[in-house]
Amino acid sequence: MANVGVNQGRRRFLTATTAVVGGAGAATALVPFIKSWLPSERAKNAGAPVLQDISKVQPGQRIIVGWRGQPVWIVNRTKAMLDTLPQVKNRLRDPDSKVADQQPKFAQNETRSLKDKPEWFVVIGICTHLGCSPDFVPEIKAEPFDPEWKGGFFCPCHKSRYDIAGRVFQGVPAPMNLVVPPYKFVDDKHILIGVNPEGAA
Ligand code: FES
Repeated sequence: MANVGVNQGRRRFLTATTAVVGGAGAATALVPFIKSWLPSERAKNAGAPVLQDISKVQPGQRIIVGWRGQPVWIVNRTKAMLDTLPQVKNRLRDPDSKVADQQPKFAQNETRSLKDKPEWFVVIGICTHLGCSPDFVPEIKAEPFDPEWKGGFFCPCHKSRYDIAGRVFQGVPAPMNLVVPPYKFVDDKHILIGVNPEGAA
C-alpha cells in the first residue's frame, strides 16, 4: 500500500502512512475498530517492526513506508545506479561508512545494504543536517545543484547531496551519511524493517 514514484517528500510520506493504516483497519473489519487500531499504532510508535511487500517496486523506483514515526525509503536500484557508486567515491565525506552509528554492521559496505541483495536500499529519509526530507533525484544527468550528478538524494532545505547509497558529499551542510535502519528479508517479496538478519548486527 505504500506510495511508489520519484521526487516524493514528506507530503507523500504522510499519504503512504495513511494508506498503510487504512489497509490494517480493513484487514481487521470484524474486530471493533478502536480496539484493533489503537494498540497497533501504539506498538508501531514504540518501535515494532514493519513488514513491507516489495514485489511491485520496479527497478529504479522508490517507496516510502513509516517506521517509528519516520519515513523509511526502499529503493530498487538498477545496475546502472549501483555502477555509479565507485564513480563518486572521491567526492564523499564518509565513502566507507566508517561512522558506525549510521548503519548496522551488515550495511557497512559500498552499497550500504545486505551484500546478497545490493539492489535493495533501505534508508531513513531524514537529512542528517537539520532533519528535512531530501528529494529522490535518481536520473544520471547534470543538475543545477551538481553538473556531474550521478543520481541520489538532494535536500532542498540547505542543498545537501547524497549518492544513491545515502552517502553524503563533501562541502555540504549535512555532516553524515543517511541512517540505514535494521532490516531483513523475510522472503523474496517482503522486507521486515526494524530487525537485523539472524546473526548480523
Ligand atoms: S536539512 Fe538538509 S541540508 Fe539542511
